[in-house]
Amino acid sequence: MTAVAIRPVTTDDADWIKQFTAEYWGDTVVVSRGVIRDPQQLPGFVATQGDERIGLASYHSVAADCELVTLASIRPGAGVGTALIDAVKARASQAGCRRLWLITTNDNLNALRFYQKRGFVLVAVHRDAVTRARQLKPAIPLIGADGIPLRDEIELELLLEHHNEDIASAGEQHI
Ligand SMILES: CC(C)(COP(=O)(O)OP(=O)(O)OC[C@H]1O[C@@H](n2cnc3c(N)ncnc32)[C@H](O)[C@@H]1OP(=O)(O)O)[C@@H](O)C(=O)NCCC(=O)NCCS
Repeated sequence: MTAVAIRPVTTDDADWIKQFTAEYWGDTVVVSRGVIRDPQQLPGFVATQGDERIGLASYHSVAADCELVTLASIRPGAGVGTALIDAVKARASQAGCRRLWLITTNDNLNALRFYQKRGFVLVAVHRDAVTRARQLKPAIPLIGADGIPLRDEIELELLLEHHNEDIASAGEQHI
């Protein structure tokens, strides 16, 4: 089986990112904490297998804070999500970030399990934030995964350590 590789996003990925975001987030933009973000405009990493793109992580850094804006993999359970997070962690550390944080939603039990098992901790429940986000992005459904009403933004964070080996591995890598 062809190995999975992780590489930084390039301008050639723009059309694919647009399509991928629409598929996973129901629109070409995502909303977190009341801010609309366009993953096509953000730095990130793409997971590839041969010629095929199979996963995406996008992030946005402000000073010591790095937000993981999107993370998705079309091959669940193959280590792609973990490898993408590791790449973002390394890059954020390299850029001097101290905190990697993200928003997921109250229905996304898979993501809550996934992130907590990878060191992220819950820091806040922003009650009804999705109801407000829906005013910016009407495509957000009322009912989310597993038939759960889609209502709250849940904030998780990972405090970053600075290691030289993180910096060395921030470029292309294979899993
Ligand atoms: C969350 C997500 C990015 C994880 O990506 P992934 O490539 O499946 O991640 P990994 O393969 O590294 O790890 C997945 C975990 O699921 C397990 N798994 C095994 N088979 C699986 C399957 N068929 N489906 C889902 N997970 C499976 C893996 O063993 C691993 O288990 P662990 O967390 O107990 O260690 C992915 O499920 C996804 O794209 N979800 C939809 C988008 C989303 O919700 N993104 C997060 C929103 S903030």
